[in-house]
Parts: sequence; structure tokens; C-alpha cells
Amino acid sequence: MKRFPWRSARPRTCLSTPRITRSLDIDRIAAAIRPNTRLVTINFPHNPTGASLPLDRYTALIELCRKHGIYILHDEIFNGLGQTGTQHLPFVADVYERGLSLNVMSKSYGLPGLRIGWIACQDSAILFKMERLKHYLSICNSGPSERLTMIALRNRARILARNCASVDENLTKWDAFFAAYPDLFDWRRPDGSCMAFPRYKGVDGVEEFCAPLVEESGVLFLPSTIYSSEFSETPTERFRLGFGRTKLDEGLAALEAHLNRNS
Ligand SMILES: Cc1ncc(COP(=O)(O)O)c(C=O)c1O
Repeated sequence: MKRFPWRSARPRTCLSTPRITRSLDIDRIAAAIRPNTRLVTINFPHNPTGASLPLDRYTALIELCRKHGIYILHDEIFNGLGQTGTQHLPFVADVYERGLSLNVMSKSYGLPGLRIGWIACQDSAILFKMERLKHYLSICNSGPSERLTMIALRNRARILARNCASVDENLTKWDAFFAAYPDLFDWRRPDGSCMAFPRYKGVDGVEEFCAPLVEESGVLFLPSTIYSSEFSETPTERFRLGFGRTKLDEGLAALEAHLNRNS
């Protein structure tokens, strides 16, 4: 078995300097539409970058898709999670007749063990087809999980406030951490979610940084090279960090000790 399985497991298609657009380019989507285009899929706040979409671009995307009769599948699983006071986009199923809102209990609500997710849509014919397909995949959901999900969703505001408070607390700690290592990292707070995508500036490269970090010190960052794709350029010098949990201090201490040992 390879020591660092991600190193050569995936093709590295991004050989040029990556260009990170901070937002979705609607003109490029318009140019990519073909007569047989049926669906556009998006994910905001985005995993792994934590980026969101300005409302005017979201509206422009919906208008574009409406004009062409295209469905939008929006993976909205981080909607509601971010710094306290973050303005989140409206759920696509609420604002677009061909919008498919994908959500789960595992992310913003912090209840992954329930294993419950859903798709909302105004188009009942589509929902009917999806329901038929789901019956091929599993016999049913867990009844207790559905009941617990209903209880959680009725208390949505309280749960999200608690989880956003964890994000607030953890972001403050990450701000302080990155301020101490300006030569090693570029840090920018994400727009939403509980993850960020900082740049690693060390000459050894992000894979050489991440692999010993998890193997020697038990701190897992995902190097951006694992997100390489045949469809578009992806950055080669960033890493994803998650900060949705409490008890960040232990991980930060292990990270600092690792950096000090290897400085
Ligand atoms: C953007 C995104 N969508 C969907 C999922 C799936 O969530 P679950 O593991 O609850 O099925 C994930 C999980 O990481 C995710 O990051």
C-alpha cells in the first residue's frame, strides 16, 4: 500500500498556474449551454472553498436557466452555516419552479448520524420519478431518524445558532493561528460553511506538507491536488481545513508542535 495514497491515485490535470475565480461566471455558463442541456448543478456555500455566490449572480443564473428550461440542482447542505449573521442564498426550490434543493442533516445541522437527506422541488412529476428510483436503492429510511430529523428541523433556528457560534469561535482561533505564520500561509475567511481553503506557500508543496502532518501528528488537511479534475483547472497549492467541531484547541496545539518541529 502506498504511504500517501492520494499522491498518484488521481491524475494531476492542472499543470498551469491555477486561476481561482472568486465567483461563478454566468457568461461562461451561458456559453456552455447546448440544445440538450437539461440540468445545471451548483454547490454554495461550496465544499471545499467555503465560497458563496452573490445574490445577483444567483438570480442571473436562475433567469438564464428559466430562459432555456434547464433544471438547477443546488447542493445547499451548508446553507445556514457560517459566521453568525451570514446572509445565505434562498433555497432554489423556493425561488425557481425547476429548482431542486438538496439538503442533509449531516452538515449545517451537525447531525450526521441520522443519515437523512432530501430533495425539495416544486415539480411533483420529478419528485415522483426520484421517489421511484430511490425505492430501487433502499427499502426505506430509518423511522426513528426521520422522527429525530423532524424534531431538529422544528428547532432549526436554535441548532443553526449553536453551530454558527462554534464557527465564530473557531474562526477567531484560525485568524490568530494564521497571523502567526504569514510566510507559510495565505488565509482568507470563507463566505460560509465550516471549511476554508488556505494557500500553502512552503517550497516543499502542499502534498509534502499534508502527508507528514497527518501521519506524524494526526492532523488531517486535504491537499487541493485530490480535487483535480478533467473538466477544469484546480489549484495545486491549497488545502481544505474543516472547523465545524468544538475542541479545536487540541488540533491546533498538534499543528503548532508539528510546525515547530519541522521549521
Ligand atoms: C457538498 C456536499 N454535498 C453532499 C455531501 C453528502 O453528505 P452526506 O455524507 O450526509 O450524505 C457532502 C458530504 O461531505 C458534501 O460535502
